[in-house]
Amino acid sequence: MAEPQFTPRVLSGIQPSGGLTLGNYLGALTRFVDIQDAGTHECLYCVVDLHAITVWQDPADLTAQTREIAAAFMAAGIDPTRSILFNQSQVPEHAQLAWLFNCVARMGWMRRMTQWKDKAGKNSEEASLGLFAYPALMAADILIYHATHVPVGEDQRQHLELTRDIATKFNHDFGREFFPITEPVIGGPAARVMSLRDGTKKMSKSDPSDMSRINLSDDADTIAQKFRKARTDPDPLPQTYDALKDRPEARNLVDILAGLQGKSPEAVMGEVAGQGWGQFKPYLAEVAVETMGPITAEMNRLMADPGEIDRILGDGAARAREIAAPILKDAYELVGLIRS
Ligand code: TYM
Repeated sequence: MAEPQFTPRVLSGIQPSGGLTLGNYLGALTRFVDIQDAGTHECLYCVVDLHAITVWQDPADLTAQTREIAAAFMAAGIDPTRSILFNQSQVPEHAQLAWLFNCVARMGWMRRMTQWKDKAGKNSEEASLGLFAYPALMAADILIYHATHVPVGEDQRQHLELTRDIATKFNHDFGREFFPITEPVIGGPAARVMSLRDGTKKMSKSDPSDMSRINLSDDADTIAQKFRKARTDPDPLPQTYDALKDRPEARNLVDILAGLQGKSPEAVMGEVAGQGWGQFKPYLAEVAVETMGPITAEMNRLMADPGEIDRILGDGAARAREIAAPILKDAYELVGLIRS
């Protein structure tokens, strides 16, 4: 059977399990905005609240953080009239398709997920069933819209490969090229922003040390202090980006500057080669504050009106359901479930 043509469509999501980091901002949010502004794809962006509850979330905090992430999307430039912005739990089709995928995906596939291994750790018997099945819900987030492209940071690559495996197996099992084989969109200098304390670990909101990350909510002094204390080696910056190959902490700071300035790391090196940390770090902090300051201010302004955020999320969910409902109906029919 000929491959059906799928509408160019993007879906991506962010968990409301804490505030946003500079990693989320550079690795994901700025790229969501670029794709929206390019106008080449229909864009759906969601706050994945159902994913967040795979580990314990205080209910009041979850509500507040969901609104905060929605505000961050808009403050960074997502326009809810051009993109569809919503929270996952308001579109029940995600969870309904996820159940079908729980029956398609194999235990062995899930066990191989490095994020499962990292998050469950040695205590996997105590982890929730939801945490184990997490990647099947993520596949459903994407495939319930027949999304063709998914912009994410490098850490999500394996989950997207699993999404492709699930789509392939579903299509094979039910004899139709029903789901697209989605392309990950991963790239740029900030696809993997690393911890400021350890250049071999990604910057993460779940790191116990707040000094390891820049939060979108940090004020100018905190940002300057975190960069000043960021771990580096003693050598000044070399002449070329290539020479940073074995200097993970130094390379990370150059990558962050490149991400903030929307330049290639090679171009950034042209400007900062030879600088010592005493010169480079304050400059990096200044650029970070200039870039993030207005976004944080706009986020705070939006959060002052939670009713308006809820209205936008509700409107987005209704528009998302218009796409999701017929796709779910067809998927149920393919599986042989009666939907009268
Ligand atoms: P989450 O909430 O951990 O992160 C949201 C996005 O930010 C990216 N990211 C980073 N990028 C660069 N450097 C970093 N240090 C960094 N930390 C986080 C992530 O790659 C991600 O793009 N499972 C996903 C959420 C999700 C999803 C989806 C994504 C659920 N359903 C469907 C895409 C499509 C997650 O936990 O992201």
